Amino acid sequence: MLTDKRILLIIAGGIAAYKSLDLIRQLRKRGAWVTPVLTKAGAEFVTPLAVSALAGEKVYRDLFDLTDEAEMGHIQLSRSADLVVVAPATADLMAKMAGGHANDLASTLLMATDTPVLIAPAMNVRMWEHPATRRNIATLRGDGVMVVGPNEGDMACGEYGPGRMSEPEEIVNAIETALAEGPLAGRRILVTSGPTHEPIDPVRYIANRSSGAQGTAIARALAVMGAEVVFVTGPADAERPEGVHIVEVQTAQEMLEAVQGVLPVDAAIFAAAVADWRVASASDSKLKKTKGGIPALEFAENPDILATVSQMEAGRPGLVIGFAAETDDVIANATSKRARKGCDWIVANDVSPETGVMGGHENAVTLISDEGAEHWPRMGKHEVAHQLAERIATALGSL
Ligand code: C5P
Repeated sequence: MLTDKRILLIIAGGIAAYKSLDLIRQLRKRGAWVTPVLTKAGAEFVTPLAVSALAGEKVYRDLFDLTDEAEMGHIQLSRSADLVVVAPATADLMAKMAGGHANDLASTLLMATDTPVLIAPAMNVRMWEHPATRRNIATLRGDGVMVVGPNEGDMACGEYGPGRMSEPEEIVNAIETALAEGPLAGRRILVTSGPTHEPIDPVRYIANRSSGAQGTAIARALAVMGAEVVFVTGPADAERPEGVHIVEVQTAQEMLEAVQGVLPVDAAIFAAAVADWRVASASDSKLKKTKGGIPALEFAENPDILATVSQMEAGRPGLVIGFAAETDDVIANATSKRARKGCDWIVANDVSPETGVMGGHENAVTLISDEGAEHWPRMGKHEVAHQLAERIATALGSL
């Protein structure tokens, strides 16, 4: 519920701004207070009157509006909310945010705020896929900005692809997650997820079949229970979870660095399928077919991230959880893995092709702790995630 939560809603100039009117209505229906800010371009798409009528509050538009400054300065305005939401977040406003510009009311508020920020990007598919937008979104995620969407579909400009702003219900869900006060409120939890890609040369890499589905579901479940979640993910197919901090990496070495940058945390869940080996010296140029035969690849061992964190002498998370994806002798292998790595729990599962676990929606896991092995029935990955999140909340509560 959002009763009495204060949302500062920045509406930037995109056709999706019409959906923000419904977003205001839905937030109000859930008991939230919405203070609207309309950019100059935003006011080309929706009228200030419609925005303020739905919000039941004055709409703020101009940095140099002295009446506003007398009533409430822009610094105070930026900090008076529980959450700042930018919907739609245009390519231009995202670029300003990533670059630290402050040349109008919206960008100044975003620079001055000490409140969490959630953005709902909306733009043409080519703009979304442009390298500049890719860079900006990565920068913003790195700065702790939360992102919901965009969705894929038909666009107002007649093209098809990712770039449509999330629907108001999806944005409301992301807002609820971002503001969740649950049993894990105040807890900071790291989740690693997805495969890693280990380059052979600039176009080839070694990877595995992990979709990132289980790690994503765990990150979502923890966030819903109120945790501050940092999600370090390899190049996974699964959609990124809402309401969490996302750090994207490619290789095992990058994942280790990212994880070390995220510590300290209360708990760490290592759901990523990290490649055990990398090519010792990846080529800077594409390997060519030669008459001389097939190139020989020499491998080097990747750092074991789970073992490294489990065996930290100072600053070890209170609860460290690893995964053991096995194809045979699941329990025996997972039990010895727990001892070898030094983690507290192992979530073991059988990933033999006939189980359909890799890339599928279901999982049959066994939780291995110092109390032994506990078999969970086969269930959806979301249910596994919720049960695990509940266990984590109980364990952290008694630490
Ligand atoms: O040794 P194995 O890969 O089977 O162990 C699986 C567990 O260890 C998973 O939790 C995985 O995320 C973690 N792991 C890791 N770094 C590696 C290899 C595995 O964190 N290099």
